[in-house]
Order: sequence, then C-alpha cells, then structure tokens
Amino acid sequence: MYVRETMADLKMMLFILLFAAAMAASEAQSLAGCLNKCGDVDIPYPFGVGVQPGTSRNCFLDETFQLTCDKSTLFLKDLPVSNIFLQEGQIDISMHISRVCFDRSGVVLDQSISNFYTGGAFTISSGKNTIISLGCDTLSFAYFPDHNLSYSGGCVTLCDTPPPKETNPNTCSGSGCCQVNNIPIGKKNYSLAVSTFNNHTKVLAFNNCSYSFLAKQGWFNFSLDYLHYFPFDMAPFSLDWTISNSTYACKSNSYCMDSKVGAGFNCKCKLGFEGNPYHPDGCHDVDECSRPNNCSIPKQCYNFVGGYSCSCPPHYKGDGYTNGTGCTKDHRRSMYKWVVIIIALGCSVGLLVVIAVVLSVGWADKQKSLKDLRKRNFEQNGGCVLLGQLSQKEGYTERTKIFKEVQLINATNNFHQSRVIGTGGQCIVYKGILPNNTPVAIKKAKVGDDPRQIRDFISEVAVLSQINHKNVVRLLGCCLETKIPLLVYEFVDNGTLLDHINPTKTTSPISWEARLKIATETAEAISYLHSVTSIPIVHRDIKFANILLDCNYKAKVSDFGASRLVPLDNSDVCTVVQGTFGYLDPEYLHTGQLNEKSDVYSFGVVLMELLTASKVVEFNRQGKVNLATHFESSMKANRLREILDKWVLDEKNGEEMEEVALLAMRCISVKREERPTMKEVAKELDLIANKAR
Ligand SMILES: *[C@@H]1O[C@H](CO)[C@@H](O)[C@H](O)[C@H]1NC(C)=O
Ligand SMILES: *[C@@H]1O[C@H](CO)[C@@H](O)[C@H](O)[C@H]1NC(C)=O
Ligand SMILES: *[C@@H]1O[C@H](CO)[C@@H](O)[C@H](O)[C@H]1NC(C)=O
Ligand SMILES: *[C@@H]1O[C@H](CO)[C@@H](O)[C@H](O)[C@H]1NC(C)=O
Ligand SMILES: *[C@@H]1O[C@H](CO)[C@@H](O)[C@H](O)[C@H]1NC(C)=O
Ligand SMILES: *[C@@H]1O[C@H](CO)[C@@H](O)[C@H](O)[C@H]1NC(C)=O
Ligand SMILES: *[C@@H]1O[C@H](CO)[C@@H](O)[C@H](O)[C@H]1NC(C)=O
Ligand SMILES: *[C@@H]1O[C@H](CO)[C@@H](O)[C@H](O)[C@H]1NC(C)=O
Repeated sequence: MYVRETMADLKMMLFILLFAAAMAASEAQSLAGCLNKCGDVDIPYPFGVGVQPGTSRNCFLDETFQLTCDKSTLFLKDLPVSNIFLQEGQIDISMHISRVCFDRSGVVLDQSISNFYTGGAFTISSGKNTIISLGCDTLSFAYFPDHNLSYSGGCVTLCDTPPPKETNPNTCSGSGCCQVNNIPIGKKNYSLAVSTFNNHTKVLAFNNCSYSFLAKQGWFNFSLDYLHYFPFDMAPFSLDWTISNSTYACKSNSYCMDSKVGAGFNCKCKLGFEGNPYHPDGCHDVDECSRPNNCSIPKQCYNFVGGYSCSCPPHYKGDGYTNGTGCTKDHRRSMYKWVVIIIALGCSVGLLVVIAVVLSVGWADKQKSLKDLRKRNFEQNGGCVLLGQLSQKEGYTERTKIFKEVQLINATNNFHQSRVIGTGGQCIVYKGILPNNTPVAIKKAKVGDDPRQIRDFISEVAVLSQINHKNVVRLLGCCLETKIPLLVYEFVDNGTLLDHINPTKTTSPISWEARLKIATETAEAISYLHSVTSIPIVHRDIKFANILLDCNYKAKVSDFGASRLVPLDNSDVCTVVQGTFGYLDPEYLHTGQLNEKSDVYSFGVVLMELLTASKVVEFNRQGKVNLATHFESSMKANRLREILDKWVLDEKNGEEMEEVALLAMRCISVKREERPTMKEVAKELDLIANKAR
C-alpha cells in the first residue's frame, strides 16, 4: 500500500515537472530549460543560447543558429537581433550604417563602409528590404557579390532649396533621400559605400554627412531634420534563414519545404497543426472547436487530429458548415427520405450529362479567353503600331520577326532558372534554342504596364530593327503577346568583356592588341548608333558588361534600349538613378539629360578599364571610389604607368597605352563640349591601332 502511494506521488511530481517545463518552453518554443527570451526577443528553436542545463546538449540546432544574450540584447555573431520569425523563416538583425563626412572645403573627415557577410544559412531577403541613402550630394553604391551573377545598384540624391512644395518634403523620393527597393534575390554578401559627386562643396544648406544603409521596409521614416542631425548608427534589416540538413530537422506533423531563394529548407506545420516544426516535440493538433470555426452550430463541432468536422443535430438538414449549406430544421425529412433518394438517383444521371456538357463548354471558353488575353496584350503592347511601322519599310519584316509566346516558352524550357545568363536591375536575359537549333538571347524586362513605357518600347524596337552593324548585337525580333514584352537577340557565345578583363580573373587575359581592336570596334559601333538615324540613338549604358565578345574577340555592343525602358527623363525633383555608377556622366546630375556625349563619357571609362583592368567602383581606393577620379589623379601626378595593367604593359605597348590614356581623359572632360565625338574617338583609335601594325 505504502509503495503504491509513493509511486503515484512520484508520477504526479513528474507530471507537474514536465508540465511546468512544457509551459515554460511553449511560449518561445525553445528546448526545455533553454533561455526562451532575451530582452523582449523570443528565441525559438533551431535558434538558441548556450547548452541545456544539466546536459551537454546545445540549445541550438547547429553553430549557424547559435546566439548570445548579453545585457538583454540578443546577438547573432556580433550583430544585434531584433526579431526571429519562425513561420516565415526570417530574422531581423542590425548593421552599421555607412557614412562619409566632409568639412566645408570638401575634405573627407570620416568614412565608413558597411560590409556584410554571415554563413551559408542566411540570405538577404529580397522583398523585405530597401537601400536608403541620405544627404545633399550623395552617391550611394551597393554591391552584392556572387560567384555567378553579381549585382550592383544605388541612387543619387540632391537637395532642392527650398524643399519642393507639391510633395511632402519628408518623403524619401530623391530630394535629400532616395531609396532602391529591388534587392536581388539570393545574395549573401553586400557592401554599401557612400561618396559624393561634387566633393560636397556645392551643397547649399551645408550638410556635413551622407549616409546609406540597408533597412527593413517600413522601418525608416525620412525627415528633413535628418540632413542636419541623424540619430541612428545602426539599422535593422531582414535575412532569410534555411536549414541545410533536412533529414532530422522537420519533426512530427510537419513537412519540409525547399527554400525559394537558394539552397536549404524550411519546415512547416501540416494543415490543422501548429507550433514549432523544428522543436523535438513537433507540431501539435489545433483544437479548431475551441476557436472561431465554420460550424454553424458550435455544439456540433468535432475535433480530430489534423482537422475538424461539423454536423447537424437530428431533424435538421444541411452539412453543418457556415461556408456550406448550414443546418435548417426539417420536420418532414424522414417521411420524404425515400422519395428524395429515388429522385436523387434520377437526377444524378441527368446531372452527370449536364456536368459533361458544362465542362466541355468551360474548356473551350478557357482556351478562347487565353487567346483573347494574348491578343489583348499584343494590341496593348503596340503590336498593331509595330506591324504598321514595319510594313511601311520594305525588307524589315523579314529581319525583325514577331515571335509567339509559345515559341519562346519552348525555346527557354518555360523560362527555366537554368537558362538565365544574366540579370540586371531592369531585366533578365535567358538563353533560348529555337526549333532550328539557333541559340538566341531572350530579354524580359521587369517594367510594369505604364503605357508610356510601352510606347517607348515600341519605338525602340522600330529603331533597333533598322540597325545593321557588325559590332552591334542584332535584334532578331520580339514577342508582344505577354504583358511585359520580350526581346529576342542573336546569341553571342563568348561572354562579356567583364568576364575576360577582371581584376579577380588573371588567367589568360586578353592581349593589348585585341583590347585595342575591341575598343576600336566598340567606338565604331557607338558612332554608328549616333549617326544612323536623324535622331541619334543614345545608348545610355555603355559599360564592360554590355560589350559582348564572340569567339574571335569581335566586340558586339548590346543592351541598348534597356535604359530607354527606364523613365530616365524624369528630371523634375526626383533625381533617383538606378544604373551603373562609375560610368555615369556627371553632367547628367546638373541637366538631368543624357545625350551622345554621355556615351562618350562612359566609353572613356571603358577605355580606362581596358588600360588598367581595375574595377570601375572600388571602395579600397582611398576616397577615389570612381575609376575615372582615380585615373585622373594618377595622370595628374604623372604616375600613369603605375596603374596600367601589368599583364599587357611592356616596352612596345607603353607609348600606345599612353596615347589611349590621353584620349580617355578627353572623353571624360567635365564639360560636354570638350569631349570629342564618338566618330573622332573611333578615328583616333583606328590610327593608333594602325600605327602599331
Ligand atoms: C572641391 O572642389 C572645389 C571646386 O570644385 C575645389 O576648389 C576644391 O579644392 C575641391 N576639394 C577637394 C578636397 O578636392
Ligand atoms: C562573401 O564574403 C565572404 C567573406 O568575406 C567570402 O568568403 C565569400 O567568398 C564572399 N562571397 C562572394 C560570392 O563574394
Ligand atoms: C552558380 O554556378 C554553379 C556552377 O556553375 C551552379 O552549380 C549553381 O547552381 C549556380 N548558382 C546559381 C544561383 O545560379
Ligand atoms: C556634423 O555636424 C553636426 C552638427 O552640425 C556635428 O554634431 C557633427 O559632429 C558633424 N560631424 C562631423 C563628422 O564633423
Ligand atoms: C516609422 O513609422 C512606423 C509607422 O508609424 C513605425 O512603426 C516605425 O517604428 C517608425 N520607424 C522609426 C525608426 O521610428
Ligand atoms: C544530418 O543530421 C544528422 C543528425 O544530426 C546527422 O547524423 C547527419 O550526418 C547529418 N547530415 C549531414 C549531411 O550533415
Ligand atoms: C472556413 O471556410 C473558409 C472557406 O472555405 C476557409 O477559407 C476557412 O479556412 C475556414 N475556416 C476554418 C477555421 O476552417
Ligand atoms: C468549409 O470549411 C471547411 C473547414 O475549413 C472545409 O473543410 C470545407 O471544404 C469548406 N467548404 C467549402 C464549400 O468551402
């Protein structure tokens, strides 16, 4: 008797103990005994701090998820954590803000750059963050390196004095503040640098510092006061996290889901379950009957593991669901039961016939509406305008083809990830194979449905279809049936100049002779663009990444028109530029306009890259972030030879390289009138190349 009582007591105590532990853990769903809150941040497993008391087991899944708690602040490595989202697989952490400060004569007093990298499990959330830049003469530059596709972007701010009246001066839209929302997908690293365009001396209401940071959307509320005093030195942003070892990670009643943004997995509770799918206890059943549910009579709710069901009490008819037929009183139900069954049998045969008819009509309708949609897109996208324009000019219809959507879907394996050969801020390029085995490059713009942009696009296609130059990538056609038009280009097989001349890739660099040839060909191509039609075609985005090479190192200028899709002529108050810094004509900031001479400027930078093989934007160049500035100051200090590419510099080439360097300097003259035309540049390069032979 005595023994049995003791056993019962022990069981009771054990029960209480377990219950208490479960209660403690349930809130943040950490492992039993582990810290479940630090300050006011919950710490759900797989994240954790330290080891479980009395054991040697870690409170976290693996080192990736190890956190520390110091004076009520939670840290991931040395970065403060402000929130962990278990269901979304996200974590908010804070990073230092990049800044640069000047005195009134334009001397840099203080500069800091934020560099971010955490281990493989984390990627920078693409839809949740934004890059914000502040200041009155600020050029911010964000770089997201990647082994496959690196991405860079940023924006420029100027200040209007007085602040514009028509818009709220405290919105971040170009005046004193600018933002970039399209953060690339799947990136793990970033660097963020701020610099200035006018060395900060021309800032009217003197603003001593410029700032730039990555922040969670909605966190930052711009105020004009921040231009004089900025109170933050860290900003929170959002990371996606995943588990790489799925074997044992997803516990009972949960399933494993491939991450959409990169390698790894996340766990999710099955439908009808809730809790922490990573916790050893797994997810537990939801008692739907004790919460708002869809039963029309609450008492008639029945909970089972993974779901619930509703019913009606006797003498009621209906299915018992509020979203279904509910429950209604039915006195004659039993009397007519058999009658109903017989009628039902009769009806169901009829119903089957009706359903068959309806289904077949529905299918035909769906096909028709899909066809209508394509036709509508085609018309909206100016298909008719284009066909009209093309038919006026003999010979063009054969050159520029109008593709059907289905042809391009087949050619790219339904725009499969593996076919992506390049991405930019504004578009994605896929490799496609046409039925006759011709490879093509298919460009899909990321623009919306602004009719003005679409009109621009149509005239662009019309213009491009007239271009026929051996050093310009040929436009084969376009597809207008999709909401966003698609462009089809010839496929050039040897990558871009950036793939070949790159400070990080030093194996078999291109010879100086080949570089000179590429430069000459590129210059000829641009000069052709500037002169072929009565209105010059301004490329607006000449850069290494847009000069393609075929297997004989023949240059092909590509990607013109992409920048046309961007409403760059929006020069009013909003001076936000998304594009390629380092190549951008500084005059653009004053006039808000790009013309042929802007292409000359960009080409000058391309020449400098060919000469030095160094990065156009480089943070570790002692305040000379831009290659153009760096090059200019080296020339002035008579130290050109020190920065020329050692791989190609020799006795024979030195003099030629100096001549090209002088030409490059003229191309980047601040005043547009002082820059040579592209025609003159091409001619001079040709002379230099001929002299060499
Ligand atoms: C900044 O520019 C002004 C005029 O453009 C020049 O006088 C000044 O020396 C420059 N300062 C620096 C630090 O380059
Ligand atoms: C990201 O940064 C880390 C550490 O600096 C480096 O090891 C890694 O190679 C970088 N990744 C890319 C894609 O640049
Ligand atoms: C990057 O390239 C490697 C090898 O070429 C490939 O295995 C990997 O899937 C690529 N990653 C992405 C994100 O495209
Ligand atoms: C910038 O100006 C503010 C206020 O005018 C001052 O507190 C701050 O120290 C200055 N920063 C630098 C780096 O000079
Ligand atoms: C910005 O405003 C939002 C909404 O009012 C607020 O939740 C957020 O805390 C604010 N951000 C800062 C940094 O004050
Ligand atoms: C995954 O985790 C299990 C259990 O912790 C371990 O036995 C296994 O070796 C891990 N697999 C990999 C590829 O790390
Ligand atoms: C109730 O029914 C609606 C519609 O079918 C469904 O979306 C919703 O999830 C249901 N609610 C519950 C608690 O089951
Ligand atoms: C109504 O809600 C229940 C419970 O969520 C669901 O199982 C059922 O399919 C829903 N019925 C309809 C007609 O949407």
